[in-house]
Amino acid sequence: RIVYVNGEFVPEEDAKVSVFDRGFMFADGVYEVSSVIRGKLIDNEGHMVRLQRSMNELDMPAPATNEEIEAIQKQLIENNDLDEGLIYLQVTRGPADRDFAYPKEPKPSLVLFTQKKNVIDNPIAETGISVITVEDIRWARRDIKTVGLLAPCMAKMQAKAAGADDAWLVEDGSVTEGSSNNAYIVTKDGTIVTRYVGNQILNGITRRAVLALAKEHDYNIEERLFSVEECYEAAEAFVTSATMFVQGVVKIDGKQIGDGKPGPVAKKLREYYVEMAL
Ligand code: PDD
Repeated sequence: RIVYVNGEFVPEEDAKVSVFDRGFMFADGVYEVSSVIRGKLIDNEGHMVRLQRSMNELDMPAPATNEEIEAIQKQLIENNDLDEGLIYLQVTRGPADRDFAYPKEPKPSLVLFTQKKNVIDNPIAETGISVITVEDIRWARRDIKTVGLLAPCMAKMQAKAAGADDAWLVEDGSVTEGSSNNAYIVTKDGTIVTRYVGNQILNGITRRAVLALAKEHDYNIEERLFSVEECYEAAEAFVTSATMFVQGVVKIDGKQIGDGKPGPVAKKLREYYVEMAL
């Protein structure tokens, strides 16, 4: 695999970053994941806008313009002959002597790589996933897409230990989001419910696209808090992310949701999304 690191396209085994990189020491870095279908980037503009926002919120200088980053993404897709999968990009504040204060003259680093994945014909799109609810122990600025991801890693491992696929995170009795996706339920009267955006969740690019499609197709949408109890009563549940698109959730804390298969709303929204992306 050819990866990109600070101005160079190199085989992955030759790619190097400094041990003093602040991304490595302080998780002082932000990232984006975009999906690729038939060699084409999906919803990439939204990811670029959010990348800028994440950097702004952290006073992190941009290592390249959005146009330059997009050119690198396209070059990597070509170099790796990537038909379907994802492209990961990470910006860190770069190397500096270890100090909690930001360096005066940061040299931000930029790393990108591709990963093959069946994003459309993903077998779990048919079966759906199971989740458990766990306490949301993350920090208070989840709207910034930082590489500080240990809390969601721990949540994911808790889920795996419980025999589930993923975790839904819960704060003050309400679901915030999934470990790496936005969370939704559909009530028995057909209303799509998902938490409103703010500092408590990541403002998903797929979330925005899917809610716009739902609106277009006259679904009722409520952006509000929803409790774990409400999840157990739901007709359907699903998650969205750049790599999962729309994925049905068929079990929450061991309780079957709907008929145990991805529900009609989740299926329709997935269809609309894939149609739009292609
Ligand atoms: N995760 N919420 C969290 C906490 C996330 O990490 C993600 C994305 C999302 C969905 O955002 P989007 O629709 O823009 O992908 C919501 C990526 C895919 C990841 O960490 O791999």
